[in-house]
Amino acid sequence: MEHIKHALSTGQHRLNGFDDITFVHQSLPNQSVENIELTTKVGELTLSSPLFINAMTGGGGEQTLRINEALSRAAAETKIGLAVGSQMSAVKDKNERPSYEIVRKVNKDGILFANLGSEATVEQAKLAVNMIEANALQIHLNVVQELVMPEGDRDFTGALKRIESIVQHVGVPVIVKEVGFGINMDTAKLLHDIGVSSIDAGGFGGTNFSKIENSRRHRMLSYFDHWGIPTAVSITEMKATLPHATIIGSGGIQNALDIAKSISLGASAVGMAGYLLKILVEKGAGPLVDEINLILDDLKMIMTALGAKTITDLKQTPLVLSGSTHHWLTERGID
Ligand code: FNR
Repeated sequence: MEHIKHALSTGQHRLNGFDDITFVHQSLPNQSVENIELTTKVGELTLSSPLFINAMTGGGGEQTLRINEALSRAAAETKIGLAVGSQMSAVKDKNERPSYEIVRKVNKDGILFANLGSEATVEQAKLAVNMIEANALQIHLNVVQELVMPEGDRDFTGALKRIESIVQHVGVPVIVKEVGFGINMDTAKLLHDIGVSSIDAGGFGGTNFSKIENSRRHRMLSYFDHWGIPTAVSITEMKATLPHATIIGSGGIQNALDIAKSISLGASAVGMAGYLLKILVEKGAGPLVDEINLILDDLKMIMTALGAKTITDLKQTPLVLSGSTHHWLTERGID
């Protein structure tokens, strides 16, 4: 709950790099809004729209249960996917499981992602997946968040090996994600090589877990507050190295234009966390559903203007890159 409180006040800056990306206007798109198709694929999974609600709220308790229930009902109503927050506490303590089980109870047919950190064992991963009958498992990488947390981990050895075992034995596709610091192309390659199905940028520029954790401690590690790979850069780096892998865009996504840009940079789906949580907490469940529907409508408008009928078409749309995003990619040898 402390995370939620601080996330709502410290996140939502526009440092995600998307303002450096411009679509090339098409005067003859030869497209109509009613023909636009938002269906997409994340690995083997088919999603009815590229937008999903990304992982939030770990731990059990009444408040987590109510937030998870509201998020899951909104996801069911708008037919978008939903990732739950870290289930580690519920894996360890049966009393915390109802806060997660509720997401499947209220959303029987929806796409749900389970969530654990890279410290998880295969058995824990299976339990988390079964708890919500998940369609896929997210494993989050959050080294900087742990370092800034006074009670956080200090040893990050062996994570890739543990993820590899989970990929081999968990029985559902595995998505590896960051939590707002971005994934670079070399890390993405390591993950892809061990069979990770999809990689979620979890880029810098939205919710900032260094700032969130720093606001909970006395000796601030403020040098991590500006640390990370902007989302637009992370997606592009990964796509350049792994043109055939499933890339997910997330980190500071606030509107349909950010979603469209993520897809045209190479993402197959796009996760939104802090922005949607803020609407739920400050305005309520009805406005959250309205906002998701508006975002999907806006995405159809943008795709119409670009002449992109499908998500696959949108991936081919020409873009112009400028500013620090262009500079970064040039420095990294990506055209
Ligand atoms: C998160 N996030 C997160 N991620 C994860 O994999 N497991 C988790 O338990 C949590 N918990 C969590 C709590 C809260 C309150 C927030 C706001 C976020 C990270 C989230 O999934 C996402 O990667 C980042 O928030 C960046 O995306 P946004 O918020 O900028 O859209």
